[in-house]
Amino acid sequence: MLTNDQLSKWDRDHFLHPSTHLAQHARGEAPGRIIQTAEGSHITDRDGNRFLDAFAGLYCVNIGYGRQEVAEAIATQARELAYYHAYMGHGTEASITLARMVMERAPDHMSKVYFGLGGSDANETNVKLIWYYNNILGRPEKKKIISRWRGYHGSGLMSGSLTGLHLFHQKFDLPLSTVRHTTAPYYYRRADVSQSEEQFSAQCAADLEELIAAEGADTIAAFIAEPMLGTGGIVPPPKGYWEAITPILEKHDILLIADEVVTGFGRLGHMFASPAYGLKPDVMTIAKGVTSAYAPLSGSIVSDKVWRVLEQGTDQFGPFGHGWTYSAHPIGAAAGVANLKLLDSLGLLQNAGEVGPYLTRTMAEAVGEHANVGEVRGEGMLTAVELVADRDTRAGFDPADKVVPRIVAAMGRRGVIARAMPQGDILGYAPPLCLTREEADTVVTATAESIAEVLG
Ligand SMILES: Cc1ncc(COP(=O)(O)O)c(C=O)c1O
Repeated sequence: MLTNDQLSKWDRDHFLHPSTHLAQHARGEAPGRIIQTAEGSHITDRDGNRFLDAFAGLYCVNIGYGRQEVAEAIATQARELAYYHAYMGHGTEASITLARMVMERAPDHMSKVYFGLGGSDANETNVKLIWYYNNILGRPEKKKIISRWRGYHGSGLMSGSLTGLHLFHQKFDLPLSTVRHTTAPYYYRRADVSQSEEQFSAQCAADLEELIAAEGADTIAAFIAEPMLGTGGIVPPPKGYWEAITPILEKHDILLIADEVVTGFGRLGHMFASPAYGLKPDVMTIAKGVTSAYAPLSGSIVSDKVWRVLEQGTDQFGPFGHGWTYSAHPIGAAAGVANLKLLDSLGLLQNAGEVGPYLTRTMAEAVGEHANVGEVRGEGMLTAVELVADRDTRAGFDPADKVVPRIVAAMGRRGVIARAMPQGDILGYAPPLCLTREEADTVVTATAESIAEVLG
């Protein structure tokens, strides 16, 4: 068996990692963990250290690790039919069954699902579908996409442009010129502290109206948003936000893409977050929880309204010229079918709706009064602790002090994994949906002790 030292050397020498400080990693200054096994909410590294994974990988292992039913479904599929494509109307029992299961769970006005591999490529597909839609409708100018600062939609050329986080733009020549960003619905960071949540929501809506007026509504195709901000800080929308935004989109005939990559399949205690927030999306992005990351699979769900135009387009112009070799890959689809069955049979939506709020509440009780905690917030199985250097001014820490990464490291020494969110001083939590109350208590204790260790 390979030693850990050998693997670490190969890792430094050969592996270009995503979202990593490449130079520090290659020099061995910031070694990652080499993960070996996992079960339930826990992962174990090759040194035998066991961690409670309070971020479910990258908020994707919704059903928890080590589910043999999914492993068996993948193995059976690989033995019977590892691959066949979905071009020119081809399908497999797994891909067709998964399409039916996804559509049974999607809001009633949605029509069909296209399968890709990950959230980024699903959003690339969504933008192409919408450009195609407007071209078929004879509106070639209506192409720009509005996203929000702090939104996260992936890291491809278009999806990375839609993302509203500086790290994903700088030195990549992004965002592309067809993308605009509007105000983040981030009440804690509002410029005018005297505003109520409703006033701030009205301000976000007014900012959107202003942007649309400046660009011209006839140039704007769609608005993309996570129903609740994820990677941008785990921020529930302020009161009245969606009620203020959606009429503006309708008024200007701007399609809504609801990016449910994180919120879909139970994370907020519902199958999807859109209906819970009163949203009626034209397109929905899914990934992560559809297979709980047991195999890569994503989807673009289109509404009846969009589908009818796509159909009309191929009648006019011939086959739809879009697809990946691995679209609707049977192994991903088999994982999806087994995963969705478990999500139901284990009652995980209900657990997320109960244990998630318990985690946020007990976290607030444990650390909410600390002099450096600005806000504890969350919804369903998503929780954030925002740290500040000064509670009154909401001033952040000097990035050079690496306060949040040090807290995350201190938590790691206590056997708990949280995420230092990429922009701001924010600790993020998105555990598997099977988290127990006892495990939630462990997460809270590790957080409180680690904040005390680093900040006193
Ligand atoms: C809301 C959202 N959309 C899209 C993506 C991109 O998904 P992927 O990393 O699978 O490309 C992510 C990833 O975290 C996400 O959170």
